[in-house]
Formats: sequence, structure tokens, C-alpha cells
Amino acid sequence: MSTAEVATTRTDQSTWWRDAVVYQLYIRSFADGNGDGVGDIAGIRARLGHLRDLGVDAVWINPWYPSPMADAGYDVADYRAVEPAFGTAEEAAALVEEAHALGLRVILDIVPNHTSDQHAWFQEALASLPGSAERARYHFRPGRGADGAQPPNDWRSVFGGPAWTRVGDSEWYLHLFDSAQPDLNWADERVHAEFESILRFWFDRGVDGFRIDVAHGMVKSEGLPDLGVDDEAMLAPVDRADHPHWDRDGVHAIYCAWRRVADSYPEPRVFVAEAWVDSPERLARYLRPDELHTAFNFDFLRTSWEPATLRAVIDESLATVAEVGAPTTWVLSNHDVVRHVSRLGRPLTPDKYSLSELPPAETLDRELGTRRARAAALLMFALPGGAYVYQGDELGLWEVEDLPDDVLQDPTWKRSGHTDRGRDGCRVPLPWSGTAAPFGFSPDGASGAPWLPQPADFASVTVETQDGDPGSMLTLYRAALRIRREHPALGDGEFAWLPGPSDVLTFSRGAGFTCVVNLSDAPVPLPADAQLLLASADLTDTGELPPDAAAWLSAA
Ligand code: NOJ
Repeated sequence: MSTAEVATTRTDQSTWWRDAVVYQLYIRSFADGNGDGVGDIAGIRARLGHLRDLGVDAVWINPWYPSPMADAGYDVADYRAVEPAFGTAEEAAALVEEAHALGLRVILDIVPNHTSDQHAWFQEALASLPGSAERARYHFRPGRGADGAQPPNDWRSVFGGPAWTRVGDSEWYLHLFDSAQPDLNWADERVHAEFESILRFWFDRGVDGFRIDVAHGMVKSEGLPDLGVDDEAMLAPVDRADHPHWDRDGVHAIYCAWRRVADSYPEPRVFVAEAWVDSPERLARYLRPDELHTAFNFDFLRTSWEPATLRAVIDESLATVAEVGAPTTWVLSNHDVVRHVSRLGRPLTPDKYSLSELPPAETLDRELGTRRARAAALLMFALPGGAYVYQGDELGLWEVEDLPDDVLQDPTWKRSGHTDRGRDGCRVPLPWSGTAAPFGFSPDGASGAPWLPQPADFASVTVETQDGDPGSMLTLYRAALRIRREHPALGDGEFAWLPGPSDVLTFSRGAGFTCVVNLSDAPVPLPADAQLLLASADLTDTGELPPDAAAWLSAA
């Protein structure tokens, strides 16, 4: 499909994904229905009304499959079932049906780079001999050195330490993440067939799409050559065409095949890629017309609150996806990065999104971060394309940075030798109501405490407290999403910068809509001939937009 042919009407159901607002449901922390302190499907079903009232178009549910939870469900033991702690297959089916009845589409998470070490295939591999067909579905290799005591190559696990673990018969297996997450060998045809069958399994059950975990990692260079550097920074998709395990060209054939599976269904089935790649051009390759529909725009997430870089990222993102006829997909936070209230409230830190890399907690001005988060939400929802809301963004939740050491569950904490506290701080269970933990996350009389402790000051940001408060983050999100649905200029469509000072981002969406984001340190006047639809902060007495605020305007 060329850019010119791309459908842009918001009522066109076949292209709903081009400008959908998708709510990320981190199932363990959304709502606990059975009172064991862990979120579950029953909890989601009971709280679907929150999502309807918020006004999102779809939900993406983090992995809900049976898992030993070595990496919060990203270690899948069985891709065709539901983790008992989260519910049953019947409950999952009921959830899909109920969500659809409310007009919400359902996207699941597929984890194709690795399985759990408890997956039947890996157990069979362990029980089989070196060189066997069972081992060929993973990457088993002899070690290096005289007695094979050195890992087969110099690759590092993303969570710290070597990417290899040795088994009893002295072979080693590859795991780019935790040792409980062995990497699959996508050079083996059985792996391709299995994942296409898993896609069909869930599509047949009415699921509307998949978020693809580590979409840039499945294909490894033949022979698994050394990285040749002993530098953690080189784990990232650095600017080198020969990186042996990130963003290899071979992944694209997999996605062409997956697209054919999706397109074999009469109703659209869609994909969103989690691909951490080096540039917008590399990302656009995943979005060619016969590949994936969308991909998270992490460049936007990584950009600091600075006008020139924001402008550049927006321009580059829009231009590169347009070349392949795809929409872009804006995202501010997810379950892997420090919540944006806590990023934006710190001194400028371009490209940093994990706790271990950001300036210390003492530098955080949470009030400033909240003000900027409100403005960032209006910026994001006004841009063309889709947008993702991570649960709790709509409440203005911040990173919980003082979780006690003994509750931390992210494997990063252990694998980094207790130097990197990992991602638990953005995964703390949501506060729904009341003035003390569990803040309505679990039902009254629950047998278990929330799996991560909620801070006492969550009392000020519960859904109950924010509901109906004109100044709350929740009210802002609801208003923005209502306007976004109703205003014909928003979502997919035209975009143009308007003239103005360099530290104020002003753009139009067609003739009828203007967005102004003030990144300067002084109030700025708003266009005189326009009607204010929504602002992230009160205007000054003279009707100007204060710093760190955004406004939506409609032509009068
Ligand atoms: C990306 C997921 O978002 C993250 O939570 C997980 O740890 C890794 N992939 C490994 O599956």
C-alpha cells in the first residue's frame, strides 16, 4: 500500500490500529479479583468500566501464560494456556468477549525470542544428547577453553552477566535475558511452524493482535560470532551493521510470514513490535506493507523534555514511517522504564530511562514531573498515529524508588550483583480507592498483601480521589481521549508545524485544530482567533499558557 492509498477515516474499522489508543494492562498489578495480592483476569473483568470511561480503543495485556515467573511472565512455559494465578481459559474467553462488547480490542503479548526453561521443549532438550534434534530448537554449544569451562562466545545477558549457562553434560545454552529464558533457534523450521500455530490459536479465540516481545532479537548471525567488545553499552543496538544478535535482517522474513497469518482472517489482526533499534530508518523496515502494522516509537520515549530534540524526533518519526505507509505509535512509559513523571521531573537526561542511569532520587521534582507529564500527554494524543497508555499513566503515578531490597523481583537486581534495582518501581499495583493499602487493588478481606508494597502517598492518586476532580490527571486523560475521538482532525491525518518561538512547539492538525506546548520558562500567548478546548494547566490571568504546559485549540 502506498502512502497515498492509506485509509485515514477514523470510522474505517479495517484500519482502527492506525490511530488507536491502546491501554497497557500489566496484569499482575492492575486489579486482584481473588484476593491473593496478584492481579488477575477476574480483576480486569471487574474493572473494564474504568477503561471504557477512560476512552481507550484497545488493551494490550502483558503475558498471561503459565510461567514460573522468573521474569514476570516473559518466561513462558505454555503458549496456549493461561497461568493459573491469573485465571482460566474460560475467564480469558469471557474477558475477550466482554471487552469486545464494550468496543475494546484485545492485544496479547507473544514472546518468540525465548521460552521458559520449564517449557516442554527445553525440558526435552535437557533430557536429550548434545547434537540431538531436541537441542537444535535452542542454541546449545560446547564451551571454549581446554575443559570447555568458558562460555561459547562473549555475548552478555541484558539483565547482566554472561548470556550462557552450562548444563550437566557440559554444553552451554544461550539466553540473552535470564538463565531461565533460553533463546529459541529461529534457524529451525519447527520454531517457525510452532509460532504460526500459536498465533492462529489465539486469533481463533477472537484476539485482535499481538505485541511482539524482543522483535529485533530472534535471528542470530550464523556461527554466533563474538561481539568483540567487553562493554555493556554494546548490548544496545549500536550503530554497527554486523551486530550478531540485534536487528538482523533475517527477522523480516518471519514477519512477512506472520503477516500472512494475520491477513488470512476476515477481521483485522494486528501486530505491534517491541523493537529497540538504532534509528527510525531501521524501525521502518519492520513496518513495510507486508510486515508488521505498528512498532513502539521508543525514540519519543527516550527524548528528554527539550524542544529541539522533541521537534526533531517527531519530524524524523513521521517522515520515516510515511515512507513505508505506516503510522507511528507514540509511547511515554511502559513496564520496563522509569515512569515518565519521575523521568521528566529530573534534570535533562537524554536517552536514559532506567533507574540505574538516571540522576539520583534527590534530584526529582515530582510536581514538575507531573506538570510535564500532563503536557506530554496532550502532545502525544495530538500527534498523528496511535498512542499507548501504560496503566497508571492516567493517574499520574510515579516510579516507586524506595521499595525494600527484599521485595524486589526483577531478575536484573540479582543478575547485576544487586547494583541495578531494575524495573519493579514502575510495576507497583494500582491504587483504586480508599486511604490505605491495598487501595482497592485487592478486595476487602484479601488473604494476600499486594505483591509489591504500595506507598502511603498513593492515597492522593486513587481512581476514586481523582474521579470528578477537575484538576486531576484522570480528568485530563478522559477529556483528552473524548476530544480525540470526537475531533475529526485528531488521530491519523495531516500534521504541520506552525511558526513560533523555537522553545514552543506549535502545530496544526488540519485547518481546525492547533496544539501548543510551552517548553520555555515564561508564559506564552495563545493564538487569538482560536477557542480553547483543553489545557494541561490553568492559563495565567492574562490568558497565557504557562511553562511546561500544553493547550489544544480549535479554530473559532
Ligand atoms: C521485553 C519485555 O518488555 C521485558 O519486560 C522482558 O524482561 C524482556 N523483553 C524479555 O522478555
